[in-house]
Amino acid sequence: MHLASLSALFTTVLLIFLSLSEAALPGTWPTLDQAPPMKPEWAKLVDLKKLPKAPVQTAQAADCSKAVEFCIWSCNTCIRNASDVVACPNNKEWGISYDDGPSPYTPALLDFLKSTNTKVTFAVIGSRVVERPEILQRIKDEGHEIVIHTWSHPSLTTVSTQQIIAELKWTELAIQTAVGLTPKFMRPPLGDIDDRVRSIITQLGYKILLWDRDTFDWKSGSDPSYQPSWITGNFTQWVTDSKGHISLEHDLYPVGAANAPAAVNIVRNAGYTIKPVSVCTGLQPYVENVQLVASGPAPPNATDGTDGTANATSTNNTSSYNSSSNSPSSHYLSSHALLIVLIISMAIFNL
Ligand SMILES: *[C@@H]1O[C@H](CO)[C@@H](O)[C@H](O)[C@H]1NC(C)=O
Ligand SMILES: *[C@@H]1O[C@H](CO)[C@@H](O)[C@H](O)[C@H]1NC(C)=O
Ligand SMILES: *[C@@H]1O[C@H](CO)[C@@H](O)[C@H](O)[C@H]1NC(C)=O
Ligand SMILES: *[C@@H]1O[C@H](CO)[C@@H](O)[C@H](O)[C@H]1NC(C)=O
Ligand SMILES: *[C@@H]1O[C@H](CO)[C@@H](O)[C@H](O)[C@H]1NC(C)=O
Ligand SMILES: *[C@@H]1O[C@H](CO)[C@@H](O)[C@H](O)[C@H]1NC(C)=O
Ligand SMILES: *[C@@H]1O[C@H](CO)[C@@H](O)[C@H](O)[C@H]1NC(C)=O
Ligand SMILES: [Zn+2]
Repeated sequence: MHLASLSALFTTVLLIFLSLSEAALPGTWPTLDQAPPMKPEWAKLVDLKKLPKAPVQTAQAADCSKAVEFCIWSCNTCIRNASDVVACPNNKEWGISYDDGPSPYTPALLDFLKSTNTKVTFAVIGSRVVERPEILQRIKDEGHEIVIHTWSHPSLTTVSTQQIIAELKWTELAIQTAVGLTPKFMRPPLGDIDDRVRSIITQLGYKILLWDRDTFDWKSGSDPSYQPSWITGNFTQWVTDSKGHISLEHDLYPVGAANAPAAVNIVRNAGYTIKPVSVCTGLQPYVENVQLVASGPAPPNATDGTDGTANATSTNNTSSYNSSSNSPSSHYLSSHALLIVLIISMAIFNL
């Protein structure tokens, strides 16, 4: 065979392989986990003249001198009731939320939620949706709420208005492409908002989803001293006041995901009804006409730690996953390694 056609064949095979291994979500998407480009048609969605003149921060909560004037959450957990949702308003109702997925740990959590008839909220990263749209489909099909949580997880007070728009709209587009839904809620990474960020988010049509109970389970991803038992330990204390709450956990790290079922059981066993955040607040979850429902009672024989204890021994592996890094997932690595091998072999053939 002619060398030129041989290398063309190589290229074809390579492109097919790459498309099979990487393009989980159809379409052309920005580089994962990096600030995505702005689309010109999105600019008109935000009237710049309406934006409060809160300075763009150099780092999260770097300058809190105007924390009161611009209601900077990262400085003093300041909230504006008109735009921010912090807790379920009714006593004995709980909005359980998981951030930063879909991840390799999400399916097992979904299995548990399904087996216990539990409905929760997932705040998803656009880059993860592009990688794992089939998991987002399960989240939708199994009656959970989907919330926008940006494309690349920046602290929003530190980025430009154009960049905030791009972060949210690309994530919205990925969710629409994956499951045909347009969320009405967004969750700011790290809760980092001020009045400029609020105005942008509000003008784009979203409610801001914060929380009033935080497990800090994300620390387990990098801090070996984080104790898995703190997740259930915290929930055990939180359920005692009978007030409405919204809690923050992550389905991105093995420790958080593995202890999430025990936390659900603690909330339910305390007599709370677990609801998607739109259900407990009585707001619309999506632009589309979709209603979500509260959790039902768990079947008496549901498994996975219904006694409320965590399976910590098998689950405190803190080594692995890092969402905010650009480190590619393993199938990217393997296809990129193959790419290099093929390019080298093509070069050798052509010599
Ligand atoms: C905001 O909502 C909280 C909780 O419902 C309430 O305690 C507070 O008074 C409200 N603040 C304003 C300014 O309305
Ligand atoms: C709750 O979590 C914090 C860390 O976020 C930890 O310091 C504290 O000990 C935990 N409480 C319980 C009762 O486990
Ligand atoms: C649990 O109950 C359901 C129906 O209520 C039944 O289909 C299922 O087989 C039971 N599972 C176990 C492990 O007993
Ligand atoms: C706990 O972990 C062990 C070992 O991985 C596993 O066999 C068992 O099913 C787990 N139990 C629960 C309740 O998750
Ligand atoms: C889990 O973490 C605890 C304390 O953080 C440690 O003592 C234990 O050896 C760890 N277990 C595994 C399997 O890594
Ligand atoms: C922790 O997880 C990593 C990656 O998933 C794996 O390579 C490693 O063997 C695990 N370590 C333990 C102690 O389970
Ligand atoms: C995640 O990646 C970022 C950038 O590569 C790095 O700065 C950070 O320390 C990493 N965190 C963890 C938990 O590995
Ligand atoms: Zn997050």
